[in-house]
Amino acid sequence: MLTVVAHPLIQHKLSLMRSVETGVKEFRELAAEVSMLLAYEAMRDLELSPTHLQTPLQEGEFPMLSGKKLALVAILRAGLVMTDGILSLVPAARVGHIGLYRDPLTLKPVAYYNKLPADIAERRVFLTDPMLATGGSAGAAIQFLKDAGAQTIKLMSILAAPEGVAVIEAEHPDVEIVVAAVDERLNDHGYIVPGLGDAGDRIYGTK
Ligand code: URA
Repeated sequence: MLTVVAHPLIQHKLSLMRSVETGVKEFRELAAEVSMLLAYEAMRDLELSPTHLQTPLQEGEFPMLSGKKLALVAILRAGLVMTDGILSLVPAARVGHIGLYRDPLTLKPVAYYNKLPADIAERRVFLTDPMLATGGSAGAAIQFLKDAGAQTIKLMSILAAPEGVAVIEAEHPDVEIVVAAVDERLNDHGYIVPGLGDAGDRIYGTK
């Protein structure tokens, strides 16, 4: 399932991220803010249980988060800034990391680093990858999480290409994809068009 979060604040911040005029510091801050706002939507189905507490005026039952604990998993390196933003909403979440590179011969993603919470199978997982382009890395990371026991996974991206969405929907129909926008297409170099460029380079000021 694909959810495009068309909230005006998200759309405005995304447009600022697209602009070539936006520098590294502002881009990084915007990426974290958009991710936090996306998480607000991605976490709309977290379970609540009535909890007994005392307000300054009277006792009562009030809803508080219950159910599975959360894990944020960043695909290195650009996913890191997203988990940082989301942690400002859910500071107790555990954070995992998956590093992937593309094998030059097979063109398939290969994991070169991973560190996940030991109890990943008992947690709701929010996987962060700002640019869902071909879907190769995200699809491989989702499979990796499933192999590690994860059962409930949502993929959070800032921007997606229709090609990447189609790959994830075909390979992992159980995974909800939450994005700020789906752009026109991928170009011949695998960049999302009109896009925002290379998210990692723009976050870290490399290139
Ligand atoms: N990764 C990026 O950072 N940007 C794109 O447009 C596609 C993949």
